[in-house]
Amino acid sequence: MSLPHPRLSALMRRGADFLGSEVAIMAGAMSWVSEQHLVSAISNAGGFGVIACGAMTPALLDAEIAATKALTTKPFGVNLITMHPDLNALIDVCAGHNVGHVVLAGGLPPGGAIDRIKAGGARVLCFPPTLPFAKKLIRSGVDALVIEGMEAGGHIGPVSTSVLAQEMLPEIAEQLPVFIAGGIGRGEAIAGYLEMGAAGVQLGTRFVCATECIAHANFKKAFIRASARDAIASVQIDPRLPVIPVRALKNASSELFTAKQREVAQALDEGRVAMAEAQLQIEHYWAGALRRAVIDGDVEHGSLMAGQSVGMVTKEEPVAEILATLEAEAEAALARRSS
Ligand SMILES: Cc1cc2nc3c(=O)[nH]c(=O)nc-3n(C[C@H](O)[C@H](O)[C@H](O)COP(=O)(O)O)c2cc1C
Repeated sequence: MSLPHPRLSALMRRGADFLGSEVAIMAGAMSWVSEQHLVSAISNAGGFGVIACGAMTPALLDAEIAATKALTTKPFGVNLITMHPDLNALIDVCAGHNVGHVVLAGGLPPGGAIDRIKAGGARVLCFPPTLPFAKKLIRSGVDALVIEGMEAGGHIGPVSTSVLAQEMLPEIAEQLPVFIAGGIGRGEAIAGYLEMGAAGVQLGTRFVCATECIAHANFKKAFIRASARDAIASVQIDPRLPVIPVRALKNASSELFTAKQREVAQALDEGRVAMAEAQLQIEHYWAGALRRAVIDGDVEHGSLMAGQSVGMVTKEEPVAEILATLEAEAEAALARRSS
């Protein structure tokens, strides 16, 4: 980071040293969005990019990492979803490329995954939904944690970022680097979490409209138009049919999802469908929906995953400008407090 930000550099040193980046700002992995172009741009600009593996096969991940390495010599990470059927093969692909940081998302890592990543030479980051879970992950050997609140875009838990940060940082921040995610749109909030003991932050929504991001123009336009209250969590309407909450901009598919739940519940009541099949129909409703919106630009029938910070996304601009703005805002906030 450049010298004009001495206070921010000091507070970010631990996180930046851990990541090997100039600033301790991670761009959270976003399926279809966080691919070679955005990831390399973030890392080249001094932040820390993370490839979203999502449902990629090991061969596709291998190619994506190789392509990213061709665009940057700076460190970047890879996000793997714990329930991926080929998780071990994906971990081995990361090791083959000497990826320095693997972020495990999507629930408690299966036995052996953490050890396998560490044996391959990478550091492991996980998302603890609660404090006891965080302590369990620390005992399992994770190297850093990302605390993500319900303001975030994509799959979310029930508790806000500010409450999770207050609950967890005083208990665990001395033991290992902790990054805060969810609802961060400006540098003042970054400064606040750093002062509370965070080693750094992770942002997703704020980077979607980066010039370097390959998301379809319609997807970016929807972000630029939206305000915080448009980014709503999906709602479960029948206790028999579980819905994992996802925060996304409301569109036609949000309404249709509610109608689909009603239709499946009625079919269940009338004995026209078995429970397992009914649950599968709900689970599969969103399959392919994020790709439809991000890549094809179908912003009505695709999924517009976005966090509440979307209201602070006002234009398309290069990654370097987004980072410079966040850094300047954070430094100014810290300077005001110490004057
Ligand atoms: C479009 C989109 C896709 C996402 N996909 C993933 C994903 O595949 N894996 C993951 O761990 N998090 C995913 N996330 C969460 C981000 O990595 C990040 O933690 C989150 O966006 C931070 O909150 P913010 O959006 O308020 O900045 C996604 C978020 C968005 C907006």
